[in-house]
Amino acid sequence: MDEIPVQLPASLFDRADETPDAHFYGVPRMVTHIDAATIEGLTDYYRENLPPGIDILDLMSSWVSHLPDDVKFGRVAVLGMNGQELAANDRATESVVHDLNAAPELPYEPESFDAVINAVSIQYLANPIAVFQSIRRVLRPGGISIVAMSHRCFPTKAVRAFHTLAPKGRSELIARCLELAGGFDRIEQIDRSPVNADPLWIIAARRI
Ligand SMILES: C[S@@+](CC[C@H](N)C(=O)[O-])C[C@H]1O[C@@H](n2cnc3c(N)ncnc32)[C@H](O)[C@@H]1O
Repeated sequence: MDEIPVQLPASLFDRADETPDAHFYGVPRMVTHIDAATIEGLTDYYRENLPPGIDILDLMSSWVSHLPDDVKFGRVAVLGMNGQELAANDRATESVVHDLNAAPELPYEPESFDAVINAVSIQYLANPIAVFQSIRRVLRPGGISIVAMSHRCFPTKAVRAFHTLAPKGRSELIARCLELAGGFDRIEQIDRSPVNADPLWIIAARRI
């Protein structure tokens, strides 16, 4: 297991490209960032853990949320950096363009959601602890935070830790960020990697 220091050095979250994220994400990318088997694995995890009818916030979203097509949810709010990507998301009931590196505070009322999901994007957050604190605020008690990680990335925008740690170490780091944010329990790290496909690590936690 990779060793994660008790106190997290700020250098873990340096990025090669520190220019405003709005520049990089200004052009829509209507692509998928993990292969089909890994998407299926993530959708299966959502099916097992997101009951019908709940209110969901998809953070760092794009034109796809990977939610099961056959399950009807309540509110599905999507937040990301590109308005055209978000407008094409057919699961969204609402969308907002919001830069979490410029402003980690989420633009929602306290206790608005039952689940906050974040797919293959956590590596772009320069201050994940502040974002988890904000996730805690917008989750209802008992609500779930689900972070899904794989291994692909936009290299210049991913934080140093994503480049230097092995997958298990990245998962440990996200679990540690949840602990440091406070207000979460039942923090789980789950390897759901399919055979011969992009890896899938899930870090789930419950809002106390
Ligand atoms: C690799 S894509 C993943 C998109 C989607 N979650 C998926 O599973 O296909 C990374 C996403 O993170 C979002 N993102 C990157 N930096 C962000 C920031 N500072 N604030 C909010 N969203 C950000 C971008 O808009 C982009 O859509």
